Amino acid sequence: RGDLERALSAFAAGNPVCVHDFADREGETDVIYPAAAVDPAAVAHMRNDAGGLVCVAVGAHVADAFGLPFLADTIDHPAAEDTPEYDDRSSFSLPVNHRDTFTGITDADRARTIVALADAAAAVERDPAAYTPTTFAAEFRAPGHVHLLRGANGGVRERVGHTELGLALADAAGLAPAVVVCEMLDDATGEALSPADAAAYAARHDIPYVEGADLVEALR
Ligand code: 5RP
Ligand code: ZN
Ligand code: CA
Ligand code: ZN
Repeated sequence: RGDLERALSAFAAGNPVCVHDFADREGETDVIYPAAAVDPAAVAHMRNDAGGLVCVAVGAHVADAFGLPFLADTIDHPAAEDTPEYDDRSSFSLPVNHRDTFTGITDADRARTIVALADAAAAVERDPAAYTPTTFAAEFRAPGHVHLLRGANGGVRERVGHTELGLALADAAGLAPAVVVCEMLDDATGEALSPADAAAYAARHDIPYVEGADLVEALR
């Protein structure tokens, strides 16, 4: 439990946490940040040290206020069939850019988009009527370079992806339901970084490392 306490206080202070899901699920470790705490250096940290896709997960009620669908449900193309091997579905919603970005991919542009998403999620938390799909569209456009993920309605009781694990971490830390997740890949093999290597990386960089199973159990 000491590790989890450390993870929660680090996260509440705006620092990253490494979270491994489950050996029988993706078997991946994501670097997870509170979205509100992300700056260009944090984006650089994720693309250099993690290397996966930089995504922002938002809670289901925030996604509803934003009018965010699951991507696969909205694309009328035979390839739009969301059937991963490790779960019932992915969490992917729209990829967006803040309208004040240029290409949207630079560290500064992605940080701009991510922080604005965090601000918008916090606004919805304060007042559920604060955002409509039209308000959202006035601030963001799709396609863009930050992948939005929709948290499951029932949170970790319904789905235990990094999407829900990250949102659970935010909730337990008293933060708004907007977190950034990025998979850690092994630079030598290109495979998912092993849990042992991810834990060693975390220890070297003084980043808390948490197992999804421990997080779910602690929340019960
Ligand atoms: C998006 C992903 C990652 O695995 C991310 O962790 C979110 O997905 P999930 O909730 O399924 O773990 O595929 O880059
Ligand atoms: Zn993944
Ligand atoms: Ca790297
Ligand atoms: Zn994942």
